[in-house]
Amino acid sequence: MTAPRARILGLGSYLPPRVVTNHDLTKMMDTSHEWIVERSGVEERRWVDPEEGNHTMGVKAARAAMADAGVEPGEIDCIIYATLSPDYYFPGCGVLVQRDLGLGHIPAYDIRQQCSGFVYGLQMADAFIRAGQYQKILLIGGEVHSRGLDKSTRGRTITVLFGDAAGAAVIGASDDPARGILTSRMHSDGTDAECLAMQYPGMAPNRDVFVNLDDVESGRIFPNMDGQKVFKTAVKRMPQVVQEVLADQGLTVADLAMLIPHQANLRINEMVAKLLHIDESKVHNNIQKYGNTTAATIPLCLEEARALGKIHPGDLVCAVAFGSGFTWGAVLMRW
Ligand code: COA
Repeated sequence: MTAPRARILGLGSYLPPRVVTNHDLTKMMDTSHEWIVERSGVEERRWVDPEEGNHTMGVKAARAAMADAGVEPGEIDCIIYATLSPDYYFPGCGVLVQRDLGLGHIPAYDIRQQCSGFVYGLQMADAFIRAGQYQKILLIGGEVHSRGLDKSTRGRTITVLFGDAAGAAVIGASDDPARGILTSRMHSDGTDAECLAMQYPGMAPNRDVFVNLDDVESGRIFPNMDGQKVFKTAVKRMPQVVQEVLADQGLTVADLAMLIPHQANLRINEMVAKLLHIDESKVHNNIQKYGNTTAATIPLCLEEARALGKIHPGDLVCAVAFGSGFTWGAVLMRW
């Protein structure tokens, strides 16, 4: 008996209602709408309201994904939660979702991998389904960036890029053997781990405490980024891994109906499209409205592309991501 193919059975997302425009940011830091749009493409992003947290958005996205899949909460037998901005240092967001949704004592995995978190999670879910380990997996990607960014001029290079959101998918066995996840490839290279990182608080060597007052006052608690290194590496790795998954299936870029790239920078995605020789009409971008929502980006984009009629059953769709670590990966699906 051949293993069933895994398929995304449903998608859901949650975007906080509070819109923060580039103009709003100019009131907090020395920046301009023109600089942000020219360098990154971002026009606005969402920030959570005080009563919202990472997992509360994840729960809302999960409910929408289950409704979309026609799956009852009681059918979910595994949770995978991808985030770099969990509500607590520990435990992770997965158990908070288990509790809030009133799910049974099912396993709850929390995974990191930052901007690649959702594609890494898709690969895990695919393997679990094909192995018969679980039947219906709830995969969530959620981020609350706004509480961890330096909103002064000191942090402007990073802060302007990011936004808050959650996205979710229900993954299960496909009833059509032709549809579902065809293949996936994940990679990592820790050589440049500190080039895009949030290193404090942390348990790294030669620290006597995981965070101290000086870390807070000096701004070390905020993320650091070598933007140009990230840019150059992303435009190299993303096309490479797309070609890898296509080659694995004996397919080419011409067979793709839609490329869903991670949304870190519109210029990165334009470059990726150029290098792959794929028409930009086949690349879905929404960074203009939401910024980089990290682990939430891929489900947000998939759902939006589907809602806009850009993805139809039977289409070849590739989701590709690159992020801190560095980590990167691609998932090829027959929708
Ligand atoms: N507003 C106005 N000016 C800003 C600014 C802001 N928000 N942020 C930085 N600047 C200034 C810098 O201080 C610098 O000024 P200087 O020339 O007087 O020193 C100038 O703009 C250029 O800064 P630089 O960092 O060299 O710009 P860049 O062209 O590399 O663009 C990024 C910066 C962040 C937009 C770009 O490097 C990038 O997008 N990299 C990838 C980031 C990414 O994808 N991260 C997430 C990965 S998952």
